[in-house]
Amino acid sequence: MEISIVGSGYVGTTVAACFADLGHDVVNVDVDEEIVTAINDGDAPLHEEGLPELVADHAGPEGTGRLRATTDYTAVLDTDVTFLCLPTPQNDDSSIDLSVMEAGAAQLGQTLADKPDWHTVVVKSTVVPGTTEEAITPIVEAESGKRAGEEFGIGMNPEFLREGTAVDDFRNPDKVVLGADDERALGDMCAVFEPLIGQSEAPVVETDTRTAEMIKYANNAFLASKISLINDLGNICKEFGIDAYEVADAIGLDDRIGEQFLRSGVGWGGSCFPKDTRAIISAAEATGYDPTVLTAAVELNDHQPERLLSLLDDHVDVAGKRIAVLGLAFKPGTDDVRNSRAIPVIEGLRERGAEVVAYDPVATANMRERFPNLEYAESAAAALDGAHGAVVVTDWDEFAALDEAFDAMADPVVVDGRRIIERRDGVIYEGLTW
Ligand code: UGA
Repeated sequence: MEISIVGSGYVGTTVAACFADLGHDVVNVDVDEEIVTAINDGDAPLHEEGLPELVADHAGPEGTGRLRATTDYTAVLDTDVTFLCLPTPQNDDSSIDLSVMEAGAAQLGQTLADKPDWHTVVVKSTVVPGTTEEAITPIVEAESGKRAGEEFGIGMNPEFLREGTAVDDFRNPDKVVLGADDERALGDMCAVFEPLIGQSEAPVVETDTRTAEMIKYANNAFLASKISLINDLGNICKEFGIDAYEVADAIGLDDRIGEQFLRSGVGWGGSCFPKDTRAIISAAEATGYDPTVLTAAVELNDHQPERLLSLLDDHVDVAGKRIAVLGLAFKPGTDDVRNSRAIPVIEGLRERGAEVVAYDPVATANMRERFPNLEYAESAAAALDGAHGAVVVTDWDEFAALDEAFDAMADPVVVDGRRIIERRDGVIYEGLTW
């Protein structure tokens, strides 16, 4: 198939390279010249495991030629299907900002006005139920002068890729969700995914666009709530002096619960769970429904960093003291600090008058944009040196190997929000939920 992908962020770029690897001819369309040049040079424009190899294999000078990039929308005219992979950031009221999507749909529609034959447009961005049908389709229709379902098709194909393992997640999906409002669009989407479905044997869910949109939110809302529930239970365990990880291991043996996403601690962050849970709550409230469980899951997540700090308060009066924050990325394996739990932890420490010294193996530069006046250490050992306490926010493997570094602390108090540090003699160790 000939495929165009509008938007070359982490989803658009990864999906484009993976589609090319499946044997399709793919063109990325993006306004950013730097991204376009990088892809055409065979360089991955962002850090994602396995992506540099794929981009070099298919776009570089030595590549198969199945992947290229351009700033020119007319490239979509030579393709059969266009995936819209544009950002949907959060508005102040927690709803999603559709302006970039709407502008992209308008430009795509104007371009498709010149296409004499059928074309399928697929929304891949995370959008609240009804958006494809009620916002995107009318724009493409108005700008192209064509009728959806008759001259062009509309689909919705949510993605379930995790940052850091996106290429692997693409190749080994738990499911492929194909939402379409007409049969021909569904047929085109099936043809795009046919090689992947053949090799991965992933189950395919065929549905309408509204349901596909909801499946994406339900997936993320369920996972985020699962973590909040294990954090709630973990907080109870802590009160009873019980190890929440032992409890989680046992309940995870029940197939109905499952062993994944039961790591309790300082909570979830990133660019997806916090935004998506709030967006679906906001969309539900707009209908008059009050989603109490989901709202509680978000509130609990917002409160975990303060619980972490209150455990530190039990041992140290942090005002005027040097406190180390280990881990700034929202999870290990990424330099992304968006909605990282380290942000409220640092804010809470500063409100208490602490002198914060922060360390992360890769995310320092990104956190420096958020907190330019913070002290950033070159290593975990340097952060711990002379500190009157330390809090662990990200479960980087290197923190598990820390040993003598704790001896250099002024007060060896460690509060672990991710269960990564080994207990050792001479260190006052507090686990958040164990
Ligand atoms: C998440 C989903 O897992 C993907 O399926 C989805 O495609 C993606 O959002 C998205 O909507 O784009 P991601 O944000 O990359 O992926 O990160 P996860 O690996 O799911 O972790 C999210 C947060 O949960 C992290 O802060 C992590 O530390 C935390 N977490 C995860 C826990 O606190 N405990 C756990 O047991 C698992």
